[in-house]
Amino acid sequence: MDLMVRAPAPETPSATVHAPPYAEALFSCRDISLDLGGREILKEISLSVGRGEVLGIIGPNGAGKTSLFEVLSGRMQPKTGHVLFRGKDVTALPLFARARLGIGRTFQTPVVPDELTVEQTLKAARQAHRPYLTRHHAEWGAEMVRLNVPPNMLTAQLETLNRRKLLLACLLMRRPQLLLMDEPAAGLINSEVDEFDDLIRTLSKELNITIIIVEHRIELLATIADRVIVMDAGEIISEGSLDFVLEDPRVNAAYFENLAEGALEESDAS
Ligand SMILES: Nc1ncnc2c1ncn2[C@@H]1O[C@H](COP(=O)(O)OP(=O)(O)OP(=O)(O)O)[C@@H](O)[C@H]1O
Ligand SMILES: [Mg+2]
Repeated sequence: MDLMVRAPAPETPSATVHAPPYAEALFSCRDISLDLGGREILKEISLSVGRGEVLGIIGPNGAGKTSLFEVLSGRMQPKTGHVLFRGKDVTALPLFARARLGIGRTFQTPVVPDELTVEQTLKAARQAHRPYLTRHHAEWGAEMVRLNVPPNMLTAQLETLNRRKLLLACLLMRRPQLLLMDEPAAGLINSEVDEFDDLIRTLSKELNITIIIVEHRIELLATIADRVIVMDAGEIISEGSLDFVLEDPRVNAAYFENLAEGALEESDAS
């Protein structure tokens, strides 16, 4: 996996990078556990992000990263634990209520409303807000993500990058304070990753949006993440600067074990 070969050898990696004191956290969760299909998927996960901070989350396939986002965004209720946003306990609030408070989420697969045009999609997003947002809000969102496609184009015809941009524009027009981004670079070619990387930096540094980003592409995290958390088998196994976690023996072991298991499964199947 990319992670293994690209691990740099920094002089003295530090674990404590820009970790915000909890009192100043914009968003945090405490002791989140989740069971799905009779299995323990998340085990007492706690994390915290400060205003404008970019927190990266990495971990092998099946580690529980997307499941954590399900809980943080309000699509799933945890078995135990709490989610806090701007000092308020939002654990009981469903997805739409958290969205209204300023929590936005993007998905691993950019699913667009196929039967609508770009313009109709932006309009639907404006009208999903109460009170309705204006054309000006939608134009601003589209400009922020540099969406450059004909308004009358069907979204089904958009390439992955423009699908991701359109969905992000729909979120941005609501002026979220927190974005949960699940593998935003999935399906993008390298030059597009660079563009997305610039975009995420703009959202964080110019708009001061707090971002939690799940991403396998280490080169993307290297340029944007202030701090990184590593998950494996539903737990946080390492936390700190990217350099620190990439050097952490627990992280290397987690990736090697998963690669070894994958290789074993492949040889069993053959
Ligand atoms: N609805 C569900 N019911 C039962 N098990 C589930 C469900 N959703 C996810 N899982 C299991 O939970 C574990 C964590 O899955 P999750 O999708 O959160 O991992 P991930 O870290 O996002 O992986 P990836 O890097 O592949 O996206 C996996 O073992 C998965 O099979
Ligand atoms: Mg996932």
